[in-house]
Amino acid sequence: MGRADHGFMKSNDVVLDVVLITGASQGLGLALARRLARRGHSLVLNARGAEALREASDELSRFTKVIAVPGDVSEIAEELAGHALAYFGRVDVLINNASELGPSPMPLLEEHSWESLLRIFRVNVVAPLHLAQLLLPGMRSRGRGTIVNITSDAAVNAYPGWGGYGSSKAALEHASRILAAELEGSGVRVLVVDPGDMNTEMHALATPGADLSELASPEDVAPAVLELLDGREAFARVEAQRMAVLQ
Ligand SMILES: NC(=O)c1ccc[n+]([C@@H]2O[C@H](COP(=O)([O-])OP(=O)(O)OC[C@H]3O[C@@H](n4cnc5c(N)ncnc54)[C@H](OP(=O)(O)O)[C@@H]3O)[C@@H](O)[C@H]2O)c1
Repeated sequence: MGRADHGFMKSNDVVLDVVLITGASQGLGLALARRLARRGHSLVLNARGAEALREASDELSRFTKVIAVPGDVSEIAEELAGHALAYFGRVDVLINNASELGPSPMPLLEEHSWESLLRIFRVNVVAPLHLAQLLLPGMRSRGRGTIVNITSDAAVNAYPGWGGYGSSKAALEHASRILAAELEGSGVRVLVVDPGDMNTEMHALATPGADLSELASPEDVAPAVLELLDGREAFARVEAQRMAVLQ
């Protein structure tokens, strides 16, 4: 499959990919949505807070076709995928970006309630897989598609207090690797992207009181993710801030 065939590259004779982004009302999800909207991609946006999601949708509708589907990604996957397919007929790129940190301050594993652990795994692991399951039949039938799972360095480093979130991201990463192996030859790519530390609400919740002003902004990191979407690897795990495309 050549780049021009992939459909993600901006071209007059290629239909641009339809992209579904969870957690798209702020932070990295919104930064990605802004970049993609300016490139003309049709977008399906999701987050729980309907008002902020509507504001994002209104902003981006000036550039492209956008539908907003508010709700908890761990509860509305069928509705989200269903609206996307009913409106656009297909989803070519799924960006599983929404994530659950758990309580702030973050508890040690031996004190972390099982209800919270279940929720973290439901949002960070099961919901992304569920969305992939719902969208894969169309991707497989077209012989192309991309699933991007946003992970964290907490998936590979044993930070005390990050056990719920970190182990869920590790599970998401390994599920991504297995999914990629199962999708070999299908034309569907699986990308695991660690965006690195960013100055966002989630990071503020993870490190209460810390000065985040020196951290990268989501807008700094988004171009690296778009560059990955333009690539051809069937599977990759990438640390976005180590790529040379930071702007
Ligand atoms: N910030 C960092 O330093 C950092 C580092 C490594 C990895 N990451 C990863 O990067 C991704 C984006 O994080 P961020 O820092 O940009 O977060 P953020 O600024 O806090 O934004 C999170 C977005 O996800 C939505 N969201 C949260 N839970 C949701 C749910 N259950 N269902 C649907 N939407 C949900 C939020 O809106 P609502 O609250 O309205 O739902 C919001 O739009 C996450 O996967 C995170 O794990 C971040």
